Amino acid sequence: MATAIYPGSFDPPTLGHLDIIRRSAAIFNELVVCVMHNGAKGQSLFTCRERAQLLESITADIPNVRIETQGGLLADYVKNYEEPVVIRGLRAVTDFEYEFQMAAINKKLNCKMETMFMVASDKYTFLSSSVVRELGKYGREMSCFVPKAVEEAVHKKLSGELCKSAPA
Ligand code: COA
Repeated sequence: MATAIYPGSFDPPTLGHLDIIRRSAAIFNELVVCVMHNGAKGQSLFTCRERAQLLESITADIPNVRIETQGGLLADYVKNYEEPVVIRGLRAVTDFEYEFQMAAINKKLNCKMETMFMVASDKYTFLSSSVVRELGKYGREMSCFVPKAVEEAVHKKLSGELCKSAPA
């Protein structure tokens, strides 16, 4: 199959994201992982460039994966592709409503765009980037949730954060 696009905020990328990346890359000829901005979320922990660098390092062994960063609307970005297929992971029923709405809006904005959902592997259904950021604030070990490079980056970014936010 042709090229697929896996968009997300990836702040930071987790083993759950990596699982979706590996499984999608095994199906499609090429997978473009696209770091984007989610308007519903506040300030990100990592810059767009940092998130892309983390994704580059954790997917370095998957030859048909390419990392990009994009501002703007997903429906506009995928116009660069003739038959755009967008992959999104579903962890639980709770993801469905939001994803269903996004897929429907994107289809209205770009009728050529198809959204395909991949069910998250059991062991990652509880996982999210915010859980990782929260554990990072407390300096906790998180090797079951993120690759080593991401764990190091989170700890580096958040070192001293807890002291700063401790109640007086
Ligand atoms: N395993 C583990 N965690 C997963 C996961 C999986 N398989 N799939 C999703 N998640 C988690 C993420 O960790 C993240 O957690 P968080 O909410 O705690 O940060 C959450 O689910 C969703 O994050 P992610 O998939 O990285 O991205 P997103 O949902 O924030 O991305 C965009 C949404 C960027 C694709 C969307 O906002 C977008 O298209 N933006 C561009 C502008 C646009 O076109 N908007 C829509 C039209 S109005």
